Amino acid sequence: MDRRTLLTGATAALAIGAMSSCATTKRSQTADLPAALPSAAPPREPGKTTPSLRAAAAARGRYFGTAVQAASLSDRATRAALTRDSASLTPEWAMKWDAIAPVQGQYAFGEMDRIADFAGQNGLALRGHTLLWHKSVPGWAASLIARTREWTHVDGHIEKVMTRYGNRVREWDVVNEPIEPNDGNGGLRNNQFMRAFGPDYIEWAFWSAHKFAPNARKLINEYGLEYGSAYEGQRRLALLRLLEKLRSRNVPIDAVGLQAHLDLRKGALDRNGIYGLVRDIGGMGLKVVITELDVAEASTTLPLEQRDRLVADETRRYLDIVLEFRSVIGVNTWGLNDDYSWLRSQRGRANRGLPYDANWQAKPMHEAIRRAFA
Ligand code: XIL
Repeated sequence: MDRRTLLTGATAALAIGAMSSCATTKRSQTADLPAALPSAAPPREPGKTTPSLRAAAAARGRYFGTAVQAASLSDRATRAALTRDSASLTPEWAMKWDAIAPVQGQYAFGEMDRIADFAGQNGLALRGHTLLWHKSVPGWAASLIARTREWTHVDGHIEKVMTRYGNRVREWDVVNEPIEPNDGNGGLRNNQFMRAFGPDYIEWAFWSAHKFAPNARKLINEYGLEYGSAYEGQRRLALLRLLEKLRSRNVPIDAVGLQAHLDLRKGALDRNGIYGLVRDIGGMGLKVVITELDVAEASTTLPLEQRDRLVADETRRYLDIVLEFRSVIGVNTWGLNDDYSWLRSQRGRANRGLPYDANWQAKPMHEAIRRAFA
């Protein structure tokens, strides 16, 4: 479909009131997995008495969820923790474009199917992460888009993913990380889509997604919005400007994902900045989902107890700000267990920025999340 066809489709959808109201490699994934345990070791399990985050969130009409790597589902303790704590799963990697179509015309749905099946068998919701992300466009697709500038290639990808998982996914991260103030473009990132289609690629993506999932919640998902630097301030502003534009053009967007990769090296959380952002998003009639919460530590040499306390305190400070708003409907962490965390590759093996340690001992962060819901 070219630009014209898409826009005609969009206008038609509006006219009939169909709008609902309201580089990554596989290796880097498996490299993060823990070594097999010796067979004599006692099975690692999350403690039976640890209260469930899922229940704590549900008691306040919200949901708690987490990201998952397909390979971790082979681990009994992971399965137990997921079903106990999570009401929703986000594929950490398996649904990205380069994961499902590494080679043109060949699809690899195995890992995503495994996650979707596990979610289905255990009554867990599934988040669609993510349709368009500049870091997960396979090389063949990037060249094709650059050469032809035809939206039909992007639309075809969206169709492929959404028709396969559409009836199982409630929330779609339609466009991931479109903001970059340093790129010019009025705060939008100069990614492959921007270069091929201009800034309207964002709304085209929403219209494409809307065709296949008119009733699912559709989001923009963004990072770098929590701290007090001038740069993060510009990121918040650029995001709000984009949302205003999308709303004024009746684009079918329902919510905003705030990734919330917290980072103790960035200084204090910008309470007013976060508060203003969530308030203004809600003011536009959009919901908010915390999509990828975790905490990068400033130091991995302090005593463990102190590190875990710092991580928990930062988590609580952040959640206390955002959970003041009823528009915040869910909180997802980017994994449950430090052993499977992307922070291991980002910040070094030892980082302790998730609710459980590598032996499934709940850390103070687990309690901080639970109490923030209360
Ligand atoms: C990361 C995964 O955690 C890694 O395993 C993968 O190799 C790269 O992507 N923001 C996002 C996520 O929206 O998709 C990213 O996930 C982390 C940053």
